[in-house]
Parts: sequence; structure tokens; C-alpha cells
Amino acid sequence: MDYNHIPRQSLGFFPTSLIELTRLSDKLGGPTIFMKRDDNTGLALGGNKTRKLEFIIGDALAQGADCVITAGAAQSNHCRQTAAAAASLGLDCHLVLGGEEPEQASGNLLLDKIFGSHIHWAGAHRKGEDIPKIVEQLKTQGKKPYVIPYGGSNELGALAFVEAFKELESQCQNINETFTHIVFASSSGGTQAGLMLGNRLSNSPCQIVGINIDKGETDKVPFDQYTVALANSTAALIAADHQFSESDLILNSDYVGGGYGVVGTLENEAIEMTAQTEGILLDPVYTGRAMGGLIDMIRTGKIKQTDRVLFWHTGGAPALFAYSNDLDIAKK
Ligand SMILES: Cc1ncc(COP(=O)(O)O)c(C=O)c1O
Repeated sequence: MDYNHIPRQSLGFFPTSLIELTRLSDKLGGPTIFMKRDDNTGLALGGNKTRKLEFIIGDALAQGADCVITAGAAQSNHCRQTAAAAASLGLDCHLVLGGEEPEQASGNLLLDKIFGSHIHWAGAHRKGEDIPKIVEQLKTQGKKPYVIPYGGSNELGALAFVEAFKELESQCQNINETFTHIVFASSSGGTQAGLMLGNRLSNSPCQIVGINIDKGETDKVPFDQYTVALANSTAALIAADHQFSESDLILNSDYVGGGYGVVGTLENEAIEMTAQTEGILLDPVYTGRAMGGLIDMIRTGKIKQTDRVLFWHTGGAPALFAYSNDLDIAKK
């Protein structure tokens, strides 16, 4: 599979490390648990979007863009990494954020501001509904805007996770390791689509288990259909002869709780347990929920003691500071 012709802009530090979490595993009574540290991708406190942005911003530059525009929640990690990437390349960055402007910026929003991004508050439109209008305004000002999709989840973003899977595969070969499951937070689908395709391309029997973060928050197409379609269109982009159907998607929606960004007991326990056994920070919205799901799947026997699990850490810890009111530990 050759995709060297696809433009790419280096933004992070790769490969990210692959480490074993022996103390967390002991605490849970097995299985073997490894972690892929994409919280350390190196761009502005890291995260999975750095991988996607290498291809997406590579494309923006190839198209001669002088500014980028994307959307997300007020505490979007995707927006924070986009703002940092744009700053590092001298591109203007416009962020269309859901909700209302808070009195005080903290967490990712504070970082968006530090990176000099232009913030547009969009109220209930948290998935970029206002982008076309802003693009038109920018064009009338003589700018050349490039739209980065919500969560960076298009074929270029997913391709980054095909590449990430290859990176993991080579690390596994070096230490003679194989995994039965890869567990991670799934939200806009690009990470999952890319890992599914990477897994298929390498004929691996590993299960790619996305933990759903959003509660049915899909605008037009159901999220599972979107992710499968994205895996297929990414395969087409790189001329890979693979087709996925919905039965190939493992998206566990048991842990969405109160919905996106509603932090409960599950996330609180996962954040504290991972920090106190391994000295590793998870985030309240994505990785806290995904790790909470993994812990529950281990306790309920859905993942067995003999399994070998990789938890893909997708970043997000800067949001901890904005969610302190929802963290039990803050009140202890
Ligand atoms: C920390 C973190 N983990 C996971 C995800 C989900 O990745 P994807 O949007 O590719 O499904 C995101 C996306 O916003 C994120 O910020």
C-alpha cells in the first residue's frame, strides 16, 4: 500500500511509546495491559489529533491555504491541537466552539487563546454548523480558508491511524507481543476507522474495540454507519481492496452514561486508579470513560484474565483543569 504521494506535515514526535501497565493489571487481577502513549505525541500537550493533523494540514498547505477553520466543544482537544499546529506554521486558526463563552477560560480553551486562535461561539451548533458562513466571510476578506472536519475525521485523518497501526505493529514485533484487543475512546470515528483498516491490512485477528463517548449525537448519519463508511472510503483512498460492513464494527455504547462530557463515577474511578497505580493522567471526557469501560469489561469477564489488551491513550488531560468541579478527588 503506497500513500507516499499524500502530502504530510510533520507536527509531532513518533513513534509514541508502548508501555506495560503492570500495577494497573495487578490491581484488576489481570489481564496483561499495555498502553500506547498518544498523550505524548508532542504537539501542545499531545493527543490523537496530532497524527490526523499531519495529513490534514499537509493537504491544507498543498492547497495553498493561509488559514484553517474547525469546530468542537469548548474543551475540544482537536481544536487545541489544531490551534497549536496552525501557530507553528504561521496559519491563522478559526475555531467554532459550541456553547457560550465562559467567564474564565481554562483547560483547552485557555490554550486555544494562548495559541492566538480566533474563537467563534456557536451556542447549540457544536459540530461546525456555522463553518460555511464563516468561510464565506473569510473569503470576502481575501483569505484562503481550509476546513478541517469535526474531530479531523475524514479519510486523511483515518489514514493517520492506518499509519499508527503500522507503528504499533513494528513495536510489537520488537518485543514479540500480540494483543487480543485494542481499546480506546471513539467519538468522531476517525481513530476507529483507521485502526480497523490498519488491523485488516495486517491480517491481524485483534479486536478493535471503540468505547463510544457520545450519546447518539449524530447529525445526519448514525455514528456506526459513518465510521464504517469512513473505513471504506479510506481503503479506497489508498487503493486497498477491503470492504467493511457494520458487523465489522465493535463500538461499545454501554458507557455513554449521561452523554458527552457528563463525568460520573465510572470516569472518576478510572482517572484515580490509573493515576494512582501508574502515575498516568487520563482525561474526564474521553480516556477516563474508555478506561472506565475497560475496567468494567475486565470485572465482568468480557475481557478475560488471559487476554492481552492494548489501551490506546488518545490524550486530553488538559481538560482535567476545566472539569475540576466534576472530579470527586477535588473535593476529598
Ligand atoms: C482525547 C480524545 N480521545 C479520543 C477522541 C476520539 O477520537 P475520534 O474523534 O477519532 O473518534 C478524541 C476526539 O475528540 C479526543 O480528544
